[in-house]
Amino acid sequence: QTTRHYKFNVRQSNVTRLCNTKPLITVNGQYPGPTIFAQEGDQVIIKLVNHVKDNVTIHWHGIRQLRSGWADGPGYITQCPLQTGMSYVYNFTITGQRGTLWWHAHISWLRASVHGAIIIYPKPHVPYPFPKPYKEVPIILGEWWNADTEKVIQQALQTGGGPNVSDAYTINGLPGPLYNCSNDTFVLNVNPRKTYLLRIINAALNDELFLAIANHSMTVVEVDAVYVKPFQTNTLVITPGQTTNVLFTTNATINVGGVNQFYIAARPFVTGGGTFDNSTVAGIVSYNISNSNTSSTIMMPKLPALNDTSFAANFSAKLRSLATSQFPALVPQTVDKKLFFTVGLGLNPCPKGMGNATCQAPNGTRFTASVNNISFVLPNTALLQSHYFKQMKGVYKTNFPDNPPFPFNYTGTPPNNTQAVNGTRVKVLPFNTTVQLILQDTSIFSTDSHPVHLHGFNFFVVGQGVGNYNESTDAPNFNLIDPVERNTVGVPKGGWAAIRFRADNPGVWFMHCHLEVHTSWGLKMAWVVKNGKGPLQTLPPPPSDLPPC
Ligand code: C2O
Repeated sequence: QTTRHYKFNVRQSNVTRLCNTKPLITVNGQYPGPTIFAQEGDQVIIKLVNHVKDNVTIHWHGIRQLRSGWADGPGYITQCPLQTGMSYVYNFTITGQRGTLWWHAHISWLRASVHGAIIIYPKPHVPYPFPKPYKEVPIILGEWWNADTEKVIQQALQTGGGPNVSDAYTINGLPGPLYNCSNDTFVLNVNPRKTYLLRIINAALNDELFLAIANHSMTVVEVDAVYVKPFQTNTLVITPGQTTNVLFTTNATINVGGVNQFYIAARPFVTGGGTFDNSTVAGIVSYNISNSNTSSTIMMPKLPALNDTSFAANFSAKLRSLATSQFPALVPQTVDKKLFFTVGLGLNPCPKGMGNATCQAPNGTRFTASVNNISFVLPNTALLQSHYFKQMKGVYKTNFPDNPPFPFNYTGTPPNNTQAVNGTRVKVLPFNTTVQLILQDTSIFSTDSHPVHLHGFNFFVVGQGVGNYNESTDAPNFNLIDPVERNTVGVPKGGWAAIRFRADNPGVWFMHCHLEVHTSWGLKMAWVVKNGKGPLQTLPPPPSDLPPC
């Protein structure tokens, strides 16, 4: 076991993209931020120092944080934010995980510019369950706004109508040549006949993406830092929050026609209407070979149509755990607790006192978002502290419902229960409870599916489907053998996903839609997992530098 030390200084830096220079909040002046490298079993210690006026916290997305919930990072859930001048040390050990994850700010929409990759290598002398790649390359997909990000957030929150669409998507912070006035392109120089591992992260705020490389197929080998049964594809689908590792092998010689440059391109997968950024980001895979008839053409991949739901559904159906003796799929075969949560958008009346702003959802309403019709409200203090120091009463209620307020046609047009109530309610689970959770989409208004992310756990996606979930016909088809294990699942628009997990990590754990605008509107909730018996089942006390509220 090695201890890895990092220092993250949060500060403002001027960044120029699309001929537009603006101050951006960054870590160590980098956009995207620094990569964290570690090995399975390592202890990672990151000192975060806040030099900006905004409040900051950082979340290590997908790291299980076994009994280290104080280091998880979501603002007002596991910690209060760092105000200007404050520092906090995140200290955790990576247990039983290897692969690609990522880190991002977890307060307001700061993650737009405050994010980076986490690369966890297997333990020494433990090979990958696939051929060793010649080179490994992180690919971080993000979004760029020419406008001040704060204005974009305000627009989304105040008017309740949705955010201004981004001006570009980015690969490793660079928009690429398909945008006007874009001088920054990610270029991957490759040698012929070599295998490359791309560690792909979707860090975009609000968009699921398709990604492809012209003239090259990819083999998916891992998602969310869990190995999968390898399969080939020309295009992959990735929701915000998810990570996907793919291998691709370069050709022996340059392409017929002399083409030796190929776009790696991404654009959104959007299932409904509404306004969104439908532009395409491109980087270039460039062969280190040329000959007398090398062409200057850069070949473009064919990406699925923006609304190609069946492509996305087929892609997720192909994802299976390795489920070998070395990497078993520990799917709970029986469940102690069955839960059914609706996730979706609704329309609430426009609140009074908005100044000149008007509500921009249909008929002068504003969008809201909820889980079981409860729109989660963040408290002013951190839930984990309130839970740990039992004297802090009244911060949250423990009556989060197991089911929606009443059964209705969830995928009707419109669903007949869209009004949400505000609340800070949590679902309490005894230690080691096995949970089956159906996530049922209800959102006719949404343009997207909901990438639901659970902190503190991986879960198994045992089923997925369209329409209303039906226990008697759907449950018998659940895959309890080799379902994909991950931390973020795309709940299809007008459909459902069934997940199972074991509540073996004491603490308070956030669960939310990873589309930032839906999170802000209330599509979030929290779990309290109680201590079990003995020190290995108990959350230790907080570190002394935990920021106060
Ligand atoms: Cu990647 Cu709660 O977040």
